[in-house]
Formats: sequence, C-alpha cells, structure tokens
Amino acid sequence: MTVPSVPTRGRTLDYAAPVYDLLEPLCLLNRQDEFDRTVLQALDPQPGDKILDLGCGTGVQCRKISQFLDPGQGGCITGIDAAGRMIAAARAKRATPHCRFEAMAAEDLHFPDAAFDAVISSLFYHHVPLDLKRRSLEEAFRVLKPGGRLIVADMHTPTTFIGALVSHLSRWLFLQPQIAENIRGVLPELMSESGFLPPRIVARYFGYIAVFSTTRPL
Ligand SMILES: C[S@@+](CC[C@H](N)C(=O)[O-])C[C@H]1O[C@@H](n2cnc3c(N)ncnc32)[C@H](O)[C@@H]1O
Repeated sequence: MTVPSVPTRGRTLDYAAPVYDLLEPLCLLNRQDEFDRTVLQALDPQPGDKILDLGCGTGVQCRKISQFLDPGQGGCITGIDAAGRMIAAARAKRATPHCRFEAMAAEDLHFPDAAFDAVISSLFYHHVPLDLKRRSLEEAFRVLKPGGRLIVADMHTPTTFIGALVSHLSRWLFLQPQIAENIRGVLPELMSESGFLPPRIVARYFGYIAVFSTTRPL
C-alpha cells in the first residue's frame, strides 16, 4: 500500500527503498549482523519497554529488537521514517502487532511527552542538517521518560586513515554537507545541549561510525 512521505529537509531515501535491504549489508562490509548486535547490546531491551527507532528505513533493526519485547507486558517498538516508501516496505516485510511503522519526521514527532523507555537511531543523523539534528535530539529527549535511554549509531570523527578516507569521500561523492557536521564531531555536543547526560562511546565501526549511549536524567 502507498504511504505518503513526510516533508523534511532531511535526505530521505524513498528512491532506495526497493533495494535498501541489499545495499545496507554491502555498506556495512557484510558486518550488518554484528553491527545490529552491538546496537542491541547497548540498548539492552527489557520485555516491557516501549522503544522508538528514528529513521528506521525498512525496519530491520526494529524487527530484531521486537523479538526481545513482550507485548503482554506492554513491550513494543515503533519505527518512524520520513520516506513513505521505506515505511511501506517496513510494514510489508516486518510489521507485527508489537512492531509498528509510521511515516513521520524525526524533528516533529507526533507522540506525547515521556511516551518511551528508549530511543534508538542508526545511520540517520548524517542525513539531516545541523538544525534538524538538534531538533530531533530535543524531540527524542521530550518523548523519553526520565531515566530513558538514547542509543545513536552514526558517522563521527574518524579514528583511522581508512575511516577518514571513507567519510570524506562519501561527503563529497554524495554531496552531503550533513556528513561534514558528523565528521566535525557535533553529535555528542548536541546530545548534551538537548539535556542528555554526557554520552559515552560504547563501540566503533570501520574507523568512522560510533555508537553513543546516554540517558535522559531522572
Ligand atoms: C541510512 S538510512 C538508515 C536506515 C536504518 N536506520 C538502518 O540502520 O538501516 C537513513 C534513513 O533516514 C531517513 N530520514 C532522512 N531524513 C529523515 C527525517 N527528517 N526524519 C525521519 N527519517 C528521515 C531516510 O529516509 C532513511 O530511511
């Protein structure tokens, strides 16, 4: 079924939706399962958790996380993406009663305050400009319960020569200034400015992706 996209200044991936499940493992050098496991470990989902995934794409991680949730205890995960075709693909392939998908912009979440125990986001923040990075982190803070966890896996200041090469090349190849902001290392600062506790880096991939973990203070 067709799902309308949501207007945003983020770089949405409507055009890539039909092939995204084939492309992503290649982009992650065939280490997608390991990468997803790292995010899962950092998230540490509890059976009754209500979880939100920002920029969920075709919902691969949502579905993996949903296996650790117990709908009987209220556990559920909602993936949002501004690209209607991503949401249509996610619904067709991965939706269950406790794994849902909605077309929504991460900078304008249609959820009440303190609705979630945890928010995750993987490879989303290098798709949006600085003001939307900030706005969506403020939105993540708003919809999290006090003590709620935020896990962000995304491009960050490279730590290896190959990492620097890949991130600078992709910035120029994809004409994506949003990547340059990530390379400058803006994410942890924006998280702190949005009210989160100072984030920790719990894992690194390929010399240019960092997995951040932080919480909304009690
Ligand atoms: C590289 S994909 C990551 C997908 C998935 N999280 C993963 O790890 O495979 C980035 C996603 O962010 C979405 N996106 C871009 N701007 C957005 C926005 N402002 N709000 C919500 N999603 C957005 C794109 O449509 C795309 O599906």
